[in-house]
Amino acid sequence: MRVPMIAGNWKMNTTLSEAVKLVREMLPGLEPIANVDRVICPPFVSLPAVKELLKGSPVKLGAQNMYFEEKGAYTGEVSPLMLAELCRYVIIGHSERRQYFGETGEIVNKKILAALKVNLKPILCIGEKLEENETGQTEAVVTGQLGSSLAGIEDLSRLIIAYEPIWAIGTGRAATGERANEIIGLIRHHIARQYGISIARDLRIIYGGSVTADNTTEFMRQPEIDGALVGGASLKANQFLSIVKQTAEVKGG
Ligand code: PGA
Repeated sequence: MRVPMIAGNWKMNTTLSEAVKLVREMLPGLEPIANVDRVICPPFVSLPAVKELLKGSPVKLGAQNMYFEEKGAYTGEVSPLMLAELCRYVIIGHSERRQYFGETGEIVNKKILAALKVNLKPILCIGEKLEENETGQTEAVVTGQLGSSLAGIEDLSRLIIAYEPIWAIGTGRAATGERANEIIGLIRHHIARQYGISIARDLRIIYGGSVTADNTTEFMRQPEIDGALVGGASLKANQFLSIVKQTAEVKGG
């Protein structure tokens, strides 16, 4: 059985003091919810303070990005080794990174390899653009992204895949549960062909793109969807809590 996961991607939101306040607001509600992996991904600068607040907590910490080199003259970058001391998860290849910061499939692949090397759990984001969706290219795009991102990677046991159609991110226009389930099913099928059925069966594939407390249950009722990567709604303690609670109710054992 795959344990469902809800991860909050705070993006470039919250100052240090705001991050601390938000964690304090959501933690008492989040902690007692069983059978769902709960992860929050604040900005880099807040990771040490949030790590302190999460000490001994079942709620885990993730980063939103990293560079693939371990150290050196890369001004302004954050390395896998730095993150490994602070958190367990790292989002890799988010569409905003691909779109605004020129991340290619090759870079994403190097980052996944580097994250795995230091035992971080990468949350690999893939997803199609609106025009690709409208011209029937979704499957080709996501399987192409999978192929380039996972080149040379044999062990998927620590990987999580987030299917995030780009047209659904931050737009209030989520995919339907049924359609997201179908694409995630295709992704799983593709993984099964490459890596074998049991690896595909154990791999967590979550949905992202305008997930809110109002549509969570629709997504979580789908058998292929193992949770959600939540942007905007993860910045509101009540919303995020409701998303995690509903996930536990629908998927919980
Ligand atoms: P959103 O973002 O929930 O605000 O659409 C999701 C994401 O970018 O991970």
